[in-house]
Amino acid sequence: MGYREITFDKDSVFLVGGGAGFIGSNLCEALLTMGYTVRCLDDLSTGKYENIEPLTQNSRFTFIKGDIRDLDTCKAACEGVDYVLNQAAWGSVPRSIEMPLLYEEINIRGTLNMMEAARQCGVKKFVYASSSSVYGDSTELPKKEGQEGKVISPYALTKKTNEEYGRLYKELYGLDTYGLRYFNVFGRRQDPDGMYAAVIPKFIKQLLHGETPTINGDGRQSRDFTYIDNVIEANLRACKADSSAAGEAFNIGAGGRLYLIDLYEHLCKALGMSVEPNFGPPRAGDVRDSNADITKARTLLGYDPEYDFEKGIALAIDWYRDYLK
Ligand SMILES: NC(=O)c1ccc[n+]([C@@H]2O[C@H](COP(=O)([O-])OP(=O)(O)OC[C@H]3O[C@@H](n4cnc5c(N)ncnc54)[C@H](O)[C@@H]3O)[C@@H](O)[C@H]2O)c1
Repeated sequence: MGYREITFDKDSVFLVGGGAGFIGSNLCEALLTMGYTVRCLDDLSTGKYENIEPLTQNSRFTFIKGDIRDLDTCKAACEGVDYVLNQAAWGSVPRSIEMPLLYEEINIRGTLNMMEAARQCGVKKFVYASSSSVYGDSTELPKKEGQEGKVISPYALTKKTNEEYGRLYKELYGLDTYGLRYFNVFGRRQDPDGMYAAVIPKFIKQLLHGETPTINGDGRQSRDFTYIDNVIEANLRACKADSSAAGEAFNIGAGGRLYLIDLYEHLCKALGMSVEPNFGPPRAGDVRDSNADITKARTLLGYDPEYDFEKGIALAIDWYRDYLK
């Protein structure tokens, strides 16, 4: 069952923090299509107005340009909201190694501001983006909640800290928080540009533009690539989850595992190309292997991902062919 069958009161109000980004704009769009009222809070630092521009035609959509580092902005945005889906943060492990202080300000303090604002405004559920990076140097596969290792990047530490606050806000204040540990999300509107771009949109764009992609490391690192619609489903399921599951974090993956070199070959084949990749040095802070055990999300949230990698990547490639032409 996909996310479209999940229903809320028809006058429900959702706030999507970071709603102009890749995941956030997809959440805004899905919720509007389902008939709900949506507020998007974003400072457009890594997101783009063009991601939400078509949504601004809808009278149930409001865009607030603001920074989650400012508590008053967060409070104004949370006023009258039923559900907060906070995606606002800076991604990228390598960038966090270059700018640890900024990551502390945005990802830790910013998320805490959103949680505090949600608490003060009596929000029903606070769902927030965590990351598979919290597993750090643990070599156990598949990754299972409770078997985390030591984090190996400032980015991962910010997400781990968010989860600790999520737990505390449930225990101390009774706010129903749910941390979603996304595993390498991909799909429409993920930014293909810039030195910190994610591997799937970057490779697709380079291949379509006749450039030779570079694989960092030997290509034998593996990831659980997860299609965006699974992530939308997880967010909506968390909003419907029982209070007894709050204060916890959940793996949100597709449950598969693909080597980077196999991803690359899959993309070449799907695009009808044959291009030998370049190989570069491995990146500091990157985990070697990642593959989600999604039993906890299945059991406690009812998460049942509709899209496996093959189904999702075919849709993503179609979208990029059109977007990049
Ligand atoms: N994409 C993935 O594979 C992935 C994996 C694990 C976790 N995550 C997490 O999911 C969330 C969304 O990721 P994404 O891929 O959509 O990234 P994104 O950069 O496209 O979206 C993040 C959005 O947050 C906004 N933002 C950043 N700082 C802000 C601030 N101070 N105030 C207000 N808005 C701010 C950005 O402008 C952007 O629109 C992030 O928290 C990220 O860490 C993503």
